[in-house]
Amino acid sequence: MPDFAHAFARRTRLRGGDELTAILAGSPPGVLSMTGGFPNPETFPTDELDEIAARLVRDDAAVALQYTPCAGIPSVRDYLIDRQEQLHGRRPERAELIVTSGGMECIALMCQALIDPGDAIAVEAPSYLGALMAFGAAEADAVAVPMDADGLLVDALAARLAAGLRPKFVYTIPEYQNPTGRTLPLDRRRELVELCRRYGVLIFEDVAYRELSFAGTSLPSLWSLGPDVVLQAGTFSKSFFPGVRLGWAAGPADVVAELAAAKQTTDQCAGGLGQRLVEEYGRAGGFERHLPSARALYASHWAALSAALTRHMPDDVAWTEPTGGFLTWLTLPEGLDTLAIRPAAQAAGVAYVPGPPFHVGGHGRNTLRLSFSHLTEPELDTAAERLASVVGAALEDRSPFTTAGGT
Ligand SMILES: Cc1ncc(COP(=O)(O)O)c(C=O)c1O
Repeated sequence: MPDFAHAFARRTRLRGGDELTAILAGSPPGVLSMTGGFPNPETFPTDELDEIAARLVRDDAAVALQYTPCAGIPSVRDYLIDRQEQLHGRRPERAELIVTSGGMECIALMCQALIDPGDAIAVEAPSYLGALMAFGAAEADAVAVPMDADGLLVDALAARLAAGLRPKFVYTIPEYQNPTGRTLPLDRRRELVELCRRYGVLIFEDVAYRELSFAGTSLPSLWSLGPDVVLQAGTFSKSFFPGVRLGWAAGPADVVAELAAAKQTTDQCAGGLGQRLVEEYGRAGGFERHLPSARALYASHWAALSAALTRHMPDDVAWTEPTGGFLTWLTLPEGLDTLAIRPAAQAAGVAYVPGPPFHVGGHGRNTLRLSFSHLTEPELDTAAERLASVVGAALEDRSPFTTAGGT
């Protein structure tokens, strides 16, 4: 058999391991999976989609089934502009918003448009695995900025900028952050926008989970506070359904124009059918009708997992308290290694994502991410109990699970 490894590009070795592929593949039968940030299928509005999809195929095939302009179908962009005004209190100009094939594509477009090999960018520590992989493959020099319980430490970023760091952008997930579930408070949002404006640094705001606050309220987005310095990536994956592969990019017109130009070499255009589904569903008030029950479902799932963690976990395990989204972040006692204990967890019938892939440089060996979105509440309790027993066993016998270097 010929071997083509010699032909693989250098970037194939720079993007990191196969953690994301494994998450998307799902867990084997019998394993309760808390890995993926997958929306709960109960939130998929299937009846409405059934009707809208049939109508589009019947009456709108020439648009919905055709190629579309790179920046999106004009009526869909108009809808997204209206929606941006409704949700963020500021109306983007036409040149300030395009349709993308989801949040991940926007990250890839940002890499294409802004990153030359060796360019610095700043990221939260920890941050979204998919983004870190894309930045790695683009050969960015990702500089990790620490977080506390309230998210990005803007003072720490300020210190780095004062010391001469000039990143192409600062990538941040202000709400219910992936992987920590943390939310950036208003004063830090203002400080971050002011800081980046002062240094002429672009903020890359990822609002993947923003519409899924448990209480139904949200703080002003960074884009609404600083449309001159913020490029916002949004997605319908969590608030509608990921199969639609649709999102948006909103920000300074020159950046948005470069993203639209880069899209010529990715997929050329987002799928027309998905674009029109979002528009028709949204114009008919679908999001307003359905999101309250989705928020209530995730709030209830979090309450169930939080109670189960409290009930089952050893005392010296800590976790974050998200106020929206799908994710919580666990910190185990120093010396435990979440990569090393993963096989034992799988054998016990529970799956999580270990912390290191969320860190530039693979730190955080005693951390892990749990998603509470798609298991049922009784399953969340069982999953927490199984995980707690594995952690308890690892604590009792640290030596086999301890790796040199600790956390
Ligand atoms: C923070 C964040 N950004 C972007 C994405 C990718 O979203 P999409 O499905 O729209 O590509 C995800 C998916 O989990 C995410 O968690």
